[in-house]
Amino acid sequence: MALTTFASPAPAGVRSPQPVRLRDVRRAFATPTGPRAVLAEVDLTLAAGEIVALIGPSGCGKSTLLRQISGLDAPDAGEILIDGTATRGIDHRCAVAFQEPRLLPWRTLSENVSLGLPRGTAKDTGAGRVAELLELVGLGPSADLRPRQVSGGMAQRASLARALARNPGVLLLDEPFGALDALTRLKMQDLLLDVHAAEPTTIVLVTHDVEEALYLADRVVLLGAPEGPGAGSVKKIITVPGARPRDRASAPLAELRVELLEGLGVDTHHAAQHPTTQHPTTNPGDRPVDPATRTTPTTETPR
Ligand SMILES: Nc1ncnc2c1ncn2[C@@H]1O[C@H](COP(=O)(O)OP(=O)(O)OP(=O)(O)O)[C@@H](O)[C@H]1O
Ligand SMILES: [Mg+2]
Repeated sequence: MALTTFASPAPAGVRSPQPVRLRDVRRAFATPTGPRAVLAEVDLTLAAGEIVALIGPSGCGKSTLLRQISGLDAPDAGEILIDGTATRGIDHRCAVAFQEPRLLPWRTLSENVSLGLPRGTAKDTGAGRVAELLELVGLGPSADLRPRQVSGGMAQRASLARALARNPGVLLLDEPFGALDALTRLKMQDLLLDVHAAEPTTIVLVTHDVEEALYLADRVVLLGAPEGPGAGSVKKIITVPGARPRDRASAPLAELRVELLEGLGVDTHHAAQHPTTQHPTTNPGDRPVDPATRTTPTTETPR
């Protein structure tokens, strides 16, 4: 699954990664007992090309937040800017991939990927682009297979290629590896890093896997229910140290893993053995991270 396209310039027509700004985003849903705030006071700034992981308990609003960015759903208040422009409705600068690959079973992988091409793409250009993307995700030899003939990991790679076919500036991934076995999942994480290096986008990755978040992301945003008046959804933002690919077993990542698990309400055995460490805070407030200067873990607790 190793890729060799790192040094190549981005293919023609590929959009550059775009910054995303969420300004006091709020979303509530009606329930039998009245409106329930799911997202409150979400203020986040993502740098172009940054990878940000969203974690949080089930039902805390992670998918809802992705839907706000993609324009599949609109906030009740606040605004979302992509590359400085406010989003209105479905935003074609974004592409989304989900936990299920959602491929059309009667079409080949190649045909499925071509469904992601921007409308009006010339036939030849489109065919070339699809072949290039299938190579990028290691599916070149499988282009003519149908979804039922491939493994779950291969189907998920096709789904990723279809999302990239849109040439997005922002890639929104909702638990993309959640249904895969543990080994395939690790390989897919490395594939995602390879894809990000070859065709950079700004990535928002929803995951329940703390290790995955710490391995892939520049920053990890911990979301939770906005309980009480004035409370926001963002409970903590952690800047992950170290350039990618990271050593999954490194001490700083182990320490952050404990911190995140505790933030998720998991009582970790290790937590008792690692007294709270004071991290120098080099990223106060919500600011995108310059990976080149990032050396130590930092944690922010908004508001
Ligand atoms: N269209 C909707 N109408 C009413 N309630 C909704 C709607 N969309 C989401 N919700 C509610 O908002 C809450 C957050 O849902 P969301 O799917 O964003 O959670 P999540 O953090 O992605 O959870 P999971 O980890 O289980 O995927 C849930 O209580 C859900 O029932
Ligand atoms: Mg979800």
